[in-house]
Amino acid sequence: MIVTTAQLFKVAYGKFAIGAYNINNAEQTMGLFKGCLASKAPFIIQISKGARKYTEKRMLEAIIRSAEEIFPEAIFAVHLDHGDEETCYDCINSGFYSSVMIDASHDPFDKNVEITRRVVDKAYAKGLSVEAELGMLGGVEEDIKVEEGNACLTNPDEVEAFVSKSGCDSLAAAIGTSHGAYKFKGQQSLHFEVIEAIQKRMPGLPIVMHGSSSVPKDEVLRINKAGGTLDPTACGVNEDEYLPAAKLGVTKVNIDTDGRLVWTRVHREYFRDHPSEFDFRPPGKIFIDEYAKFIEHKNQKLGSAGQLDAVRAAVSKK
Ligand code: G3H
Ligand code: 13P
Ligand code: ZN
Repeated sequence: MIVTTAQLFKVAYGKFAIGAYNINNAEQTMGLFKGCLASKAPFIIQISKGARKYTEKRMLEAIIRSAEEIFPEAIFAVHLDHGDEETCYDCINSGFYSSVMIDASHDPFDKNVEITRRVVDKAYAKGLSVEAELGMLGGVEEDIKVEEGNACLTNPDEVEAFVSKSGCDSLAAAIGTSHGAYKFKGQQSLHFEVIEAIQKRMPGLPIVMHGSSSVPKDEVLRINKAGGTLDPTACGVNEDEYLPAAKLGVTKVNIDTDGRLVWTRVHREYFRDHPSEFDFRPPGKIFIDEYAKFIEHKNQKLGSAGQLDAVRAAVSKK
């Protein structure tokens, strides 16, 4: 059942975080639904501009609608990840999405507010909620490259003005993470002082953590043993920090890279061990099962595992 993102946030805020997983194809979708049902977790499906181009937006929508029928117990929201204005309007008008992210964080404060406000007005008219970003993450974001040195953390003193002027419902905050596999050098920790300061100023405002993959060491090692050349010092977010962050208002945790690592490991190992194979279905089947296990594990760490019935009760109350 597709619900609004706001409904999920209402149940989760301050207690646990909802996993927001990027989806590009049928195999990921199958693994995601299986993993979320096995761990009894609500979830958010995120679709990026790149995903809408890769699988074709209508194909992705059809895959997700089919999954909804195949897995009637699942409770989830559908969200546009890192949208520009045009893509936000396309999603708002499609009638399929629960929420959109307008990412104008690369613009100056006032322009960011102005763009976000326009999207909020259009989204509200159709019953969608809006995530906006203040501050800048390091790493690679779609086609925009933010050099690590330029990554700037969200200034908690700007949050109240940004949220009240733009009208956004949730805030993607820069709290030390970045997109991709290479997030931290040396010490690996979230900026809890920034999260705390935001919550203090705006209690109840759902904070979104982008760049939340943990980039497991053993996954990187297995990929490299099977022919990959990933930087072995690659390092991500400590999964044991998801839940403490959730208690401070981090309600949506975005994960994409870790799922790509599962895909890469499964396929590299499979074709290394079966060099004469050319049917893509055997590794595809392994990937679906491995991706489901990966999702189950993440949901345990996020605290969303076991919350499906609570969400179902809250959703059916209205
Ligand atoms: O933050 C970006 C997400 O990982 C989506 O990546 O734009 O390559 O689909 P993508
Ligand atoms: P990762 O690259 O850490 O998986 O982050 C994904 C993300 O933030 C999607 O918006
Ligand atoms: Zn992101």
